[in-house]
Parts: sequence; structure tokens; C-alpha cells
Amino acid sequence: MPGNLITFEGIDFSGKSVQANLLHGALKDRKLPVLILREPGGTEISEKIRSVLLDNANHKMSAMTEVLLYSAARAQMVRENILPNLEKGTVVICDRYFDSTTAYQGFGRRIDLDFIKKLNNFATEEVVPDLTFLIDLDAKIALQRTKTALDRLEKEDSEFHQRVRKGYLEIARSNPDRFVVIDGTQSIEAIQDEIFMKIKLKLPL
Ligand SMILES: Nc1ncnc2c1ncn2[C@@H]1O[C@H](COP(=O)(O)OP(=O)(O)O)[C@@H](O)[C@H]1O
Ligand SMILES: [Mg+2]
Repeated sequence: MPGNLITFEGIDFSGKSVQANLLHGALKDRKLPVLILREPGGTEISEKIRSVLLDNANHKMSAMTEVLLYSAARAQMVRENILPNLEKGTVVICDRYFDSTTAYQGFGRRIDLDFIKKLNNFATEEVVPDLTFLIDLDAKIALQRTKTALDRLEKEDSEFHQRVRKGYLEIARSNPDRFVVIDGTQSIEAIQDEIFMKIKLKLPL
């Protein structure tokens, strides 16, 4: 594929969106064709699914419904947005991608990991990121950054978020070729520099 897919992963408030946006701005300044997408979302249909997933009124949602909705939103985003842009040679930056499903629904909600793997492959048409930044941060430190009202998933207890964090680290260990683990306790600027350095090393941009 001519383009590159770069994804950001980590627990809530680890700093993904800040870094994804900084990277987007920096690549745009260099006049590179670049697109930033958030998950769940990135298309009209996916944004509708997002509002169902994040609605606090949907406290009855089962873990199965949740994993299928995330995957449905992602399938639409891959087909409608990621694939055509990669084919055009665009650098696509994703704020969360299928590793989030493995970490949250697999390690967090304890849905069978083999099933999740198949579901992820199915939903993404096997479009795997070229590079994934995992911003690793302790769940308690992340929660101290909370300023806004918490959505449904952010309200899960800290034991759940610890499982998700450990899950992410395990996923990174299993996929060393595409993962870069970053210490999320560093300053925004230090993390930005580290991300840039790794991109220069790993991608022919
Ligand atoms: N390295 C950092 N150090 C301190 N605060 C940070 C850092 N990165 C982000 N933040 C702050 O933490 C909050 C969550 O950041 P955000 O990028 O939205 O996280 P995420 O997208 O992972 O949920 C924001 O208020 C942001 O300004
Ligand atoms: Mg975010």
C-alpha cells in the first residue's frame, strides 16, 4: 500500500489525542498528504455508532454488543476512509484502532482473545498499522488528568483500567515490529520528540 497507517493507543487520558493532533500538524506543515481519524468514528455511519457506544444511558449494553459495535464502526471506517486514502498514498493517523478492542474488550472485558483476533482481521480487511505508538501510563495518574465528565467506558473501575494497561503492554510485546512503547509520564514535548524520532527511523516519509 502506498500510504502509511500510524495508530495511537493507550488508556483514556494517556495523551493519545494530544500527540495524534501534534503529529498531524507537523506532517501537514511538511506538506505531506495526511489525514487524522478518531475511533470510534471517522465516517458518518461510524460517528452514529460512536454516539450509541459512549451514551451513559446505554448502561445495559452487553460486552458482546459493545465489541460488535466497535468493530462495525471500524469496518465502515476502513472501507470508506482508510483504504481509499492509503491507496492514494496518504499518511493516515488513527486515534485508536483494533488494538483498542484487544485491550479493552479482550483483556478488559475478558472476551476470548482468539475470537477478538478474528473479528479484528474481519473488520479491518487485514489492514494492519505500519507503526503503533502505545502511550503507557498508570491508570491512577491518567485519572488525575480528568477534567471533563466521564463517559460510559471511562467510568469503569481502576482494576479494569489496570487490566487494559497490562493488556496493551502484552500486545506490544507480541508485535515488536510495529509497536513503540512510550513512557506517558514525560512532558508533552518530550513525547512529541520521541514520536518524531521513531517515525523518521521507521517510515520513509
Ligand atoms: N504528557 C502529558 N503530561 C501531562 N498532561 C498531559 C500529557 N499529555 C496529555 N495531557 C493532558 O491530559 C489530558 C488527556 O489528554 P488526551 O490527549 O486527550 O488523552 P487521550 O486522548 O489519551 O484520552 C488533556 O487534558 C491533556 O492536555
Ligand atoms: Mg482522546
